[in-house]
Amino acid sequence: MKLFDVYPINDITIVKAKGSYVWDQEGQQYLDLYGGHAVISIGHTHPHYVQRITEQLNKVGFYSNSIHIPLQQELAEKLGKVSGRPDYQLFLCNSGAEANENAMKLASFHNGRKKIIAFSKSFHGRTSLAVAVTDNPAIVAPVNQTENAVFLPFNDVDALETYFKTHGDEVSSVIVEGIQGVGGINEASAAFLQAISRLCKQHDAVFIADSVQCGYGRSGKFFSQDYAGVDADIYTMAKGMGNGFPVAGIIIAPHLKPKYGMLGTTFGGNHLACAAALAVLEVIEQEKLIANAAEVGSYLMDELKKIPQLKKVRGKGLMIGFDLPDSLKDLRKNLLFGQRIFTGEAKPNTIRLLPSLALRKKDADEFLEAIQEEIHSMETAAPAVK
Ligand SMILES: Cc1ncc(COP(=O)(O)O)c(C=O)c1O
Repeated sequence: MKLFDVYPINDITIVKAKGSYVWDQEGQQYLDLYGGHAVISIGHTHPHYVQRITEQLNKVGFYSNSIHIPLQQELAEKLGKVSGRPDYQLFLCNSGAEANENAMKLASFHNGRKKIIAFSKSFHGRTSLAVAVTDNPAIVAPVNQTENAVFLPFNDVDALETYFKTHGDEVSSVIVEGIQGVGGINEASAAFLQAISRLCKQHDAVFIADSVQCGYGRSGKFFSQDYAGVDADIYTMAKGMGNGFPVAGIIIAPHLKPKYGMLGTTFGGNHLACAAALAVLEVIEQEKLIANAAEVGSYLMDELKKIPQLKKVRGKGLMIGFDLPDSLKDLRKNLLFGQRIFTGEAKPNTIRLLPSLALRKKDADEFLEAIQEEIHSMETAAPAVK
């Protein structure tokens, strides 16, 4: 049987990983500033994480949500504490798309409405509603298209107010990334998030903060929306939550009430997933990784801003993006195959940095040296036309 060929891949096979480094089958070492797409939060194969999952696997790996799973309550308590939202309620699932799907569904159960406001350049996942509110027609199948998804311009408070003025009583939820990831590291302004919060409250709509990529400490705060001083009604999270173990969740404000059967999943919140998620939060707390993301991230961003060829260096914490001029469009590929450094991208010309939150200053320095060396060698090979 062949694999269904949907991923354009790099010709690299990783066989070992530790901290912010991975190794291929020839033993070559790579610095990982991509974190397997913002997933590696506490560093690859962290010993506490490996130990907690291994111990759990030797006890019980899985049983369904039809019995008590005390690890779920333990996780809810820890997450409430670390996120600063002890009064919220936790529903566990398996992926970012599923988290968003459940959030939008729950909002609609809550207020009985159908319209969901999303924004230009948004990415919320690939399942039916999640992809319907994703601003990329190429990945929306005809069956996913729905008039219930309404797209407004990102960071445009006036457009949002105008829509609410005319259709406020139809809006079920507003879904927004605090910092757009796939869209190219675009920060939602504080004024925009505050307007969403205010308008949702006024119109009994549900404010969904998609924190799948920008959440879990990556921005230097637990949720990037925290910079705006707002509380969303639902936060969705996934990537960094399990450091690679597939676990996701939504946390839900107290005024949204549960009812038996309204949400559900077979695998969500299983013993192994909870052990992985708990290990991640324990390490985040013990090693003060959110503060580290803020500190190393702002150092890295300041230094990147000094490199004149890199345009619009932006982001928060360890979620950083910058644009490349046309003459350096192969920089990401060259960093990978020339300097052995993984980075992420956003089309058409943005490099995204999404490393582990445990990235050290010396790892950042290694990158800064390598990127300057690579830019220099690309410019010497093909001098810019005056
Ligand atoms: C902001 C955001 N939301 C949702 C998703 C979907 O997550 P998953 O791929 O786990 O379904 C992603 C994935 O990149 C994302 O970046």
